[in-house]
Amino acid sequence: MTRLADRLGLALPLLQAGMGAVAGPELCAAVSRAGAGGTLALYKEPPARAARLVREVAAATPRPFGVNVVPEVTGPATCLEQLRAVLPELPRGAFVTSFGLPDADVARAVRAAGHPLVIQVGTLAEADAALGLGAAVLVLQGTEAGGHLLGRLPGDRLLAEVRARHPHAVLAVAGGIATGGDLADAVARGADGAMAGTLFVPVAESTAHPTFKRRVVEAMADDTVITSLFRIGWPHRPHRVLHNSLTTTDQRAPATFIATTRVDGREHPIPRYSAAAPGNGTTGRVGEMAMYCGRSCTRVTDRHPAAVTVARMSQEYESAHRPRATSPGPSTNTTARKRLPKPIRIQER
Ligand SMILES: Cc1cc2nc3c(=O)[nH]c(=O)nc-3n(C[C@H](O)[C@H](O)[C@H](O)COP(=O)(O)O)c2cc1C
Repeated sequence: MTRLADRLGLALPLLQAGMGAVAGPELCAAVSRAGAGGTLALYKEPPARAARLVREVAAATPRPFGVNVVPEVTGPATCLEQLRAVLPELPRGAFVTSFGLPDADVARAVRAAGHPLVIQVGTLAEADAALGLGAAVLVLQGTEAGGHLLGRLPGDRLLAEVRARHPHAVLAVAGGIATGGDLADAVARGADGAMAGTLFVPVAESTAHPTFKRRVVEAMADDTVITSLFRIGWPHRPHRVLHNSLTTTDQRAPATFIATTRVDGREHPIPRYSAAAPGNGTTGRVGEMAMYCGRSCTRVTDRHPAAVTVARMSQEYESAHRPRATSPGPSTNTTARKRLPKPIRIQER
């Protein structure tokens, strides 16, 4: 259907983003079974637990799936340890996604194990570097995206720049994708597919906290804000979140513990301004936590099983798709797209 789908063995050229506290084995396996690129978030998972989670996914889907690492959070050594634990558990055809550029050692380990390496980048220079590391697929993240932001350009502009420099690279866009029409538009603009995160936060198999799911479904794009507030545990990287009582005040509250998250029977305290998102094992002042969310939330409504969401995306994509060989055709989105790139606004507090 597209080079992305061919390269990763998917029925639909759509990757589900690895998302800490949201994308566990159930979501990953459900998206994979439905024919899209289900992805397990490894985030800060200890290697032994990461390997166990991968085994759970592998037992639950016969189709390709991915694992996601965040080297700038774990550091290169721990990232390599996570991969050494999970690579032997990955079935043939599984892929590895990295948020930002991984170390050369990490890239080599993935390639040596025979798995496609998918690298998410936010600038043209990072795209060049990712291809130099042997990435099979680049994910180009625009500033519409939910979560931590790798660059400062809207997705359209980044895609145009990278496509002009690398006409044969396999490119997916991240940010702004919530319907099959959005996906078809991205393909018409020169992408080979897309990655979506926010779309999958509210679905049944997501492990996001129920309040987080509800807020994503209710939110409009302008309820999201780019901030640097939630920096404990992941500093130096602006992030797009739903506004809350912390983002809407100039007063700084103390970074005391406001919640706990239970993982494998153990309680982990969460300070105010932590980068941790609320999962279904979180209790406390959940409303003050970082609820990562992209501007696509305006069109996100699905609380169904992921299979229903992926089937809807497929049907909409099929009916909206205009082959690139002809003309791109009119936009299938009702939402106006940016014509000129605007610098992003970051709350610096
Ligand atoms: C709740 C949430 C958590 C995220 N966590 C991660 C993560 O752990 N690893 C990662 O590579 N990207 C993460 N991202 C960013 C995604 O990779 C991607 O850039 C983003 O979801 C695309 O924009 P969208 O959310 O509007 O679809 C996260 C995004 C969200 C919304």
